Amino acid sequence: MGRGAIRAARLSARRIAKHGDFADVALPPLPPIPGQVSQSERRLLYWLAAATYTGQGAIVELGSWLGLSSAHLAAGLRDSGFAGELHCFDRFTWDQKKPVDVGRVLRLGDDTTDVFLAHVKPVFDRVVAHRTEIESMRWDGGPVEILFLDAPKGRKPFVHVLALFQAHLDPASSYVASQDFGLPTAFAQALCVGRLLDVFELRHTAGYTAGFTLARPLPAEAELRARLDPKRFTVDEDLRTWDAMLERIDDAAFRERLRPGICLHLVRRGETRQALARLRTMRFDDSALALWRKFAAEPDKAEKYDALFRELGVASKPAGGWLRRLFARP
Ligand SMILES: C[S@@+](CC[C@H](N)C(=O)[O-])C[C@H]1O[C@@H](n2cnc3c(N)ncnc32)[C@H](O)[C@@H]1O
Repeated sequence: MGRGAIRAARLSARRIAKHGDFADVALPPLPPIPGQVSQSERRLLYWLAAATYTGQGAIVELGSWLGLSSAHLAAGLRDSGFAGELHCFDRFTWDQKKPVDVGRVLRLGDDTTDVFLAHVKPVFDRVVAHRTEIESMRWDGGPVEILFLDAPKGRKPFVHVLALFQAHLDPASSYVASQDFGLPTAFAQALCVGRLLDVFELRHTAGYTAGFTLARPLPAEAELRARLDPKRFTVDEDLRTWDAMLERIDDAAFRERLRPGICLHLVRRGETRQALARLRTMRFDDSALALWRKFAAEPDKAEKYDALFRELGVASKPAGGWLRRLFARP
């Protein structure tokens, strides 16, 4: 098969919907690296690069931490048979108070770039680490074939990243995956994608990651920002957008885990009564409740979404004490 035919076959393979644990993907041996992506997400990332990459742009990762996801992309790129580079963007600064030994002891504020590179370079040499805040990052590296997001979680950074990369993503060959997309707490991203359903085509789900091909180019920056401006939309429009976005998700477990994310959004819009009414229509099995218990244990979430946690009967200790909770009751 010629190069062109191989490219076409790979891009077609990438467009076939695939959901779940990607258990059919055999991972090559890789060094042990601490990390935060699940086995199924690692297999998705390796497979994307090894079996579907066509050398028509860089592979770019935002949010690399110590390099676990990066090493899987790097190994895939190495095994793909196409030349390309992996560019990894992160603040690469240790943010935990407790020192951790990862070959050398990392303390709060330490630059972690060398640890990242020591983990990933032995897998594949053509990896470039960019130490930057996502909000101030630049991209002048040309076309991007695979964009993997594991740092921009909220609306503002997500829109910033889409605006930054829109001119470099080609619907014919580009792919965007976002980790945490499937968590209800990442509702802002899912709403943005819901507002761009003419562009984003969901192809893969694995763990909390969703991967999309593009049906058409993302709008240019001004239009993109306008289309994703939350002030333009009524609550009813948001609800319709959310439901339309969920309808596109075939993976029932992924969809149902994400579904209550709209309730968090409604609380943020000051529509707590409506959020509670919606929440009451949804079913939460033990694993869903365990996830919500984890959210409730995070102080920032406990405070913002206390009413939802109380409705679900999951423990929540918001700052501010009983008086604040009393007045926060809808
Ligand atoms: C969930 S971790 C990434 C985990 C990694 N992909 C893995 O496989 O283990 C998120 C990473 O995003 C980075 N990050 C979060 N917000 C950022 C920002 N605004 N600018 C730069 N990096 C950021 C953090 O430094 C952290 O390394």
